[in-house]
Amino acid sequence: MWCISSSIPRFIRPTSPAVTLSSFPSFRHLRKATLSPPPASYSALTLSETETIRSPELVAREYADLNLSDKFCQEVGHVRIRQHVNPLRSELMIPVEVPDWNSVYEDATLPLMVDIGTGSGRFLIWLAKRNSGFRNHLGLEIRPKLVKRAEYWVDELALKNIHFIYANAMVSFKQLVSSYPGPLILVSVLCPDPHFKKKHHKRRVLQKPLAESIVDGLGPGGQVFIQSDVLEVALDMRDYFDSEPDKLVHVDFIDPNMLCDNEGWLLNNPMGIRTEREIHAEFEGARIYRRMYQKQS
Ligand SMILES: C[S@@+](CC[C@H](N)C(=O)[O-])C[C@H]1O[C@@H](n2cnc3c(N)ncnc32)[C@H](O)[C@@H]1O
Repeated sequence: MWCISSSIPRFIRPTSPAVTLSSFPSFRHLRKATLSPPPASYSALTLSETETIRSPELVAREYADLNLSDKFCQEVGHVRIRQHVNPLRSELMIPVEVPDWNSVYEDATLPLMVDIGTGSGRFLIWLAKRNSGFRNHLGLEIRPKLVKRAEYWVDELALKNIHFIYANAMVSFKQLVSSYPGPLILVSVLCPDPHFKKKHHKRRVLQKPLAESIVDGLGPGGQVFIQSDVLEVALDMRDYFDSEPDKLVHVDFIDPNMLCDNEGWLLNNPMGIRTEREIHAEFEGARIYRRMYQKQS
């Protein structure tokens, strides 16, 4: 078992109905019958399991086939996540050096997926393992220790199509993707830190310049996938991409299998795997708000 429990930040949502559940420690570990029905991926659990299982264990099950070790924690210590990082701190406003893509990936001409605010990296590692030989993966994360551990796992699994960079995506995304030799085909911004206080909204990772860089960087047919368990944050991200109707179209217009509710939120996760925050939030009964856009040719 690897050191997961400390790596899952919990949001206190001042206005969300989930606040009462997520705020009180007594509700932290137990899934109560009063919560909304579990998602399909819980179906393998027995009733007594759903009543007593802890959400970090669900994370472990979701990524079980990666078989990641906890050697990193044994060697370097546990990865503790406390407060959100303030990305506007002056030392975080310096763009990172662009790596030599040919030494980073086995084939640097493959299409690229970038996950912004990748957290532990397990979600992206899972995707990289399944898309070996077809797609490269780049995880951008502002917490250096998470990046070190993710890279440790990448080495362990000997994956040649994934790389993590300790970077502030707000200031480094554009030059990283514009220097990449292959096409950018998918960008994800999944459950970003909500920074609830109004005066801190500017710390949210997705701001207009980053949204514009994503849209400009995507090749024709390229996609951007956003999601959040905080409606306000999801709406904030959605506004940026809905306001580019000449360049982007929502995927339900192209693919009838991508079903949405009346408000235009995707009914299902199109990635085939949930992120850690997503697992944790669904466990607490929260809803995930998702949109996926495709760049027009
Ligand atoms: C709530 S976590 C979500 C992680 C993952 N996407 C998930 O859904 O489980 C948000 C992550 O974004 C990272 N982050 C926040 N601001 C960032 C920025 N400006 N650039 C890169 N990463 C950032 C945080 O350190 C954190 O790991």
